[in-house]
Amino acid sequence: MGSKYTRGCCGWLIVALVAALVATAAMFAIMKRKPGGGGKHLKPLPVPGPPGAIDSKYGDALGVALQFFQVQKSGKLENNQIPWRGDSALTDGKEAGLDLSKGLYDAGDHMKFTFPMAFTATVLAWSVLEYGDQMSAAKQLDPALDALKWITDFLIAAHPSDNVLYIQVGDPDLDHNCWERPETMTEKRPLTQINKKSPGSDVAAEAAAAMAAASMVFKSSDTTYSDVLLQHAQKLFTFADTYRGLSSESYPKLQDFYNSTSYVDELLWAASWLYHATGDQTYLSYVTVQNGKTYADWGRPTWFSWDDKNPGTQVLLSRLNFFGSKQISNAENEGLKSYRDTAESVICGLIPDSPQATASRTGGGLIWISGWNSLQHATNAAFLAIVYSDYMLSTRTAAVQCSGKYYSPTDIRNFAASQANYILGDNPMKLSYLVGYGSSYPQQVHHRGASIPADAKTGCKGFQYLHSPDPNPNVAMGALVGGPFQNDTFVDSRDNAVQTESSTYCWIYALEPIGLDPLMGQQSGSPLAWPISTRGTTTSISPVLLMDEGMRGFPPHIYVGGARGDDSSQLCRPSYSRCYSTRGTVHA
Ligand SMILES: *[C@@H]1O[C@H](CO)[C@@H](O)[C@H](O)[C@H]1NC(C)=O
Ligand SMILES: *[C@@H]1O[C@H](CO)[C@@H](O)[C@H](O)[C@H]1NC(C)=O
Repeated sequence: MGSKYTRGCCGWLIVALVAALVATAAMFAIMKRKPGGGGKHLKPLPVPGPPGAIDSKYGDALGVALQFFQVQKSGKLENNQIPWRGDSALTDGKEAGLDLSKGLYDAGDHMKFTFPMAFTATVLAWSVLEYGDQMSAAKQLDPALDALKWITDFLIAAHPSDNVLYIQVGDPDLDHNCWERPETMTEKRPLTQINKKSPGSDVAAEAAAAMAAASMVFKSSDTTYSDVLLQHAQKLFTFADTYRGLSSESYPKLQDFYNSTSYVDELLWAASWLYHATGDQTYLSYVTVQNGKTYADWGRPTWFSWDDKNPGTQVLLSRLNFFGSKQISNAENEGLKSYRDTAESVICGLIPDSPQATASRTGGGLIWISGWNSLQHATNAAFLAIVYSDYMLSTRTAAVQCSGKYYSPTDIRNFAASQANYILGDNPMKLSYLVGYGSSYPQQVHHRGASIPADAKTGCKGFQYLHSPDPNPNVAMGALVGGPFQNDTFVDSRDNAVQTESSTYCWIYALEPIGLDPLMGQQSGSPLAWPISTRGTTTSISPVLLMDEGMRGFPPHIYVGGARGDDSSQLCRPSYSRCYSTRGTVHA
């Protein structure tokens, strides 16, 4: 019943991937129009403009994928749009005098695990920071923010004092012993906490990362909430760093679910986010000078996942190296360079015809690392690829070098698009692995709520619905199932949890940046080139990249064609990694 760790698949990955790909369509258009223009690998491509016209394929996928957060919601629902879902777990946390009713159920079960849930929040926040403009253009920003806050509200409640964090709600044995809807569950839901005596640096640091990233997301819309998140993040990081240990050592039972291999990757990840959120130099020094050599595994590319945050940290810190800042010391810059070099190795491993290309792929071209949750690595990798390619575009970086061969941002985006397209149906099974998307998608998702009719009275033992040969009565909208075998096949059976379970931590986040172009005023469905580049104005201008003094991070303030404060300059307010003119240029 999917009680092993690395269960289900990763819904949120798809969202970021799709959003990212909205822009890809635009790049393709550029390449077609100007054969060889920028395609010769060594000439930098134009800086992207604002989101282009929505590619309806990806825009629709984004809308579907985000619904999975609603499907997974615990607590008293607000504006619920999933007809078969209702309030549940309202008394979670009561035994500790806390309200832990919010948060998201982990997968096809009703456990709430803080570790993967916080990871979901961190990457969701990251994708909003990078691609919020694309999400907004596709009218999907509000659902993303709503989902993010549903998790961060839980994290705030789960951190009642400096050195205490609740890391689990529910007992996996009791939970997996039942097949029932969350709305009707009656079994006990005990709490598990980490503290000074029973530490869990992996979970505490991931929660710190999530809250630091989310504090940036909410900074402009809700300063108070953003400040609260940042305070929690800083305290959790101190707790994680001071009282070190793995949560699965404190609680060996956790090994059967999310058995984190190490906590130092989470410490670096959290400190990197805290540096972006605060600009406090001590966090930068922590990840570079103090701990980089010992912990960061420079030079060794790995797979980004709920367990291994290193590749995420490498790409995130590349951002600082790409955009630069006067306040960073030489020693720190050297550390950043090592992170970026490792990020580049990760990217080189993904591009299919690169000399460093990983052999871990299916015949259909999907990155494939493990049988459980096979889609998680593909979506995670695609997300990092698209983010990295956007950093390159924004800084007019022409190419990455992989053992002597050069690859442009377009090559990197093509890889990301290939993963998204595979997941959305361009695969040997001709099946969309995103439930609710397209004409053919899995009908037997391993998911308690989706498999039981909303009016059924099952008690704990509704296992006839697990074993039934019938399609689920309810559609688990936005669920990204575990995914195909390495031979590209998929068996759509509820009992086959390895392939048909979907997990909250694995969500299609990389779908955002696949474009929309409000300035061009075009109808949706027609991919267009970035406006700036099509006007031919930016190709001759080198953007001057500056970091705002007060905010070393998102967004970098990018100025095109002049120095900061120079009246003649064309201010490019990048939406995070993207840079576009706020006046003049587009209508030149
Ligand atoms: C959990 O991870 C630890 C350390 O990597 C390993 O020794 C242990 O065998 C793992 N437990 C399970 C159940 O896989
Ligand atoms: C594909 O791989 C799975 C898992 O290894 C195996 O059970 C199945 O028989 C294979 N299918 C084909 C058509 O080779």
